[in-house]
Amino acid sequence: MNKTKIRHNKYSSLEVQGNSINEITKRRKFVSTKFNLDNKVTLFKGDCLKLLKTMPSGCTELVVTSPPYNLGKEYEAKTSLDIYLDLQEEVIKECHRILSPTGSICWQTGNYVENGEIVPLDTLLYPIFKTKLKMYLRNRIIWHFGHGLHASKRFSGRYETILWFTKSEEGYTFDLDSVRIPQKYPGKKHFKGPNKGKLSCNPKGKNPTDVWDIPNVKNNHIEKTIHPCQFPVGLVERLVLSMTNQGDLVFDPYIGVGTSAIAALNNGRRAAGAEVEKKYVEVAQARIKEAVDGALKTRPINKPIYQPDGTGASRRPDENC
Ligand SMILES: C[S@@+](CC[C@H](N)C(=O)[O-])C[C@H]1O[C@@H](n2cnc3c(N)ncnc32)[C@H](O)[C@@H]1O
Repeated sequence: MNKTKIRHNKYSSLEVQGNSINEITKRRKFVSTKFNLDNKVTLFKGDCLKLLKTMPSGCTELVVTSPPYNLGKEYEAKTSLDIYLDLQEEVIKECHRILSPTGSICWQTGNYVENGEIVPLDTLLYPIFKTKLKMYLRNRIIWHFGHGLHASKRFSGRYETILWFTKSEEGYTFDLDSVRIPQKYPGKKHFKGPNKGKLSCNPKGKNPTDVWDIPNVKNNHIEKTIHPCQFPVGLVERLVLSMTNQGDLVFDPYIGVGTSAIAALNNGRRAAGAEVEKKYVEVAQARIKEAVDGALKTRPINKPIYQPDGTGASRRPDENC
């Protein structure tokens, strides 16, 4: 049997070299189904409220999620808006309880649609965070993407929002430098005044702003799984990197196919989350294993958006269509 070296680094993924029964056993244990503060990953199959009740107060630095929108998708039963909001409030209050004083909640939503009329869910959820929980809104991030349903009686929807709230007014975790993006004119210099000749922009890059242009995960996306509404990993990574430190716990109450856990693990954080649908839990387990093995393909967040070059399908046909 090969000699196996297993190196545990408190903050980084389990590193395994060689093959042995030991190795396989340890890898299996990498994902736990019951919450414990020492777990690298907790993936609970069931209702998020059940998992939340087992988690101690203040244990999480970041709650990041995209909840069901009450649209009657394959993974949710459509109910009245009042009942939906009551349920959301119960979960949000528990998320607030497990949040550390320096922590953040990022709640990503789109529109609830009833008889062709849209209701932006974040506007309905805002009072829960602000009025009931006295949290502080730092950004309402616009996530803009290129693909979706084609509307015929209104403009096609191409953005969703992320409400970023902190638990405390001051002293919250935020590292802008870790998520700066390339400057448009990195060589631009001051042309007059005391700084004449010096670079006029931050050499570390620029602030990514509160409008994020990131492709959503549709059929030809490298990260596509069986889930109809999964997060792109890069979107969560930007939140994880800027709002947590190495070793911190990232929690997603509606974890789907495990994207938030992958974004956390890829960056040396711990992860926990719940998912009611068995088939998504299974995909999440497989993706997490792939991520730990360094084999999961993801789209880098700063990769430029694809621009058609006028050939193939992007070439206008000779005849008008
Ligand atoms: C919008 S999807 C989230 C997808 C996720 N962001 C990803 O990247 O895979 C919402 C998920 O919540 C799950 N869900 C619905 N109610 C739940 C509950 N009470 N507890 C845990 N998960 C739930 C659904 O099955 C669905 O997969």
